[in-house]
Amino acid sequence: MPVNTIEWVDGQVKIIDQSKLPERLEYIYCKDVESLREAICSLKVRGAPALGIAGAFGVVLAMQNFAAESYSDFEKELTRVVEYLGSSRPTAVNLFWSLRRMLSCARKNKDKDIDEIKEALKNEAFQIMEEDRSCNRMIGKEGSRLIEDGDAILTHCNAGALATADYGTALGIIYTAKQEGKRIKVWVDETRPLLQGARLTSWELMQEGIEVTLICDNMAGELMRQGRIDKVLVGADRVTANGDVANKIGTYSLAVLARENKVPFYVACPLSTIDLSLSCGEEIPIEERDASEIVEGLGKRIAPRGIKVYNPAFDITPARYVTAIVTERGICRPPYEESLRKVKG
Ligand code: MRU
Repeated sequence: MPVNTIEWVDGQVKIIDQSKLPERLEYIYCKDVESLREAICSLKVRGAPALGIAGAFGVVLAMQNFAAESYSDFEKELTRVVEYLGSSRPTAVNLFWSLRRMLSCARKNKDKDIDEIKEALKNEAFQIMEEDRSCNRMIGKEGSRLIEDGDAILTHCNAGALATADYGTALGIIYTAKQEGKRIKVWVDETRPLLQGARLTSWELMQEGIEVTLICDNMAGELMRQGRIDKVLVGADRVTANGDVANKIGTYSLAVLARENKVPFYVACPLSTIDLSLSCGEEIPIEERDASEIVEGLGKRIAPRGIKVYNPAFDITPARYVTAIVTERGICRPPYEESLRKVKG
């Protein structure tokens, strides 16, 4: 992909401002942890793996100029920063996974000089980003085995380059299958309310020369009934030990429709998205977002003032609807209690 969703440049975090896409490809520089957290909350940077990377660099941003007298001062401030960044978005576990890694990196280096600890944290953030790149490539390779020449694939939200450090998870599979010479047609749904499908996935796939057609969220069922969708392929924000999947609101409806219409439903995610500490999807914290996203969708008022609104950003797809979960260590199939534990190691 010709885009760098997130980078570390001269002591700042450079991100694509995804709220401006597809009309403008603009970058913003976060100079401090407050502006980075704001970018996360307002979805300028988004997608589970990218949130993990943003969190790690957020820690580096916050700590790079912190003058600590002792390691205990340093860790106190680091813990505060980790909690501050962790309070931005609750659902994607990648954020908490990377923040934990940053904290344990500091602890492992606690006997070193403060400057050396800061350097170790920066290296850890780069490592998290590098690992995401190679995970994308491995998921792409593993997952493309599920894709046949001529497939029409429906995807939801954006699980591509804009959500990761490389070419994505679900979309990475599509890019790999295309590179292998398979002819693929992609259906992308709008993904209300913030239209990650219409704004981001459509744009990304068009940049890559993939045949893509945009549909409204409520068209998927009819297309499946007509036999025009061969596979559904989505990303994930958190997968629990039993294989339940949290992903962008609307994913569950697609999974149910896929089952009714005998369409395989695949999820692609790195192991950092799999949370074995939770036994099932009921335990996943679901982010609730501001009513304005629904009543004033992208700046235009579309519902009466004063209307009551419910706006959860994610839903849970029970494991029984998931045909397979593609990870960098292979394709997991039911029973997920066993297959997920095996790949997580
Ligand atoms: O609210 P968002 O845009 O951060 O939601 C993103 C998704 O739901 C993606 O499908 C998920 O994070 C997987 S990204 C590889």
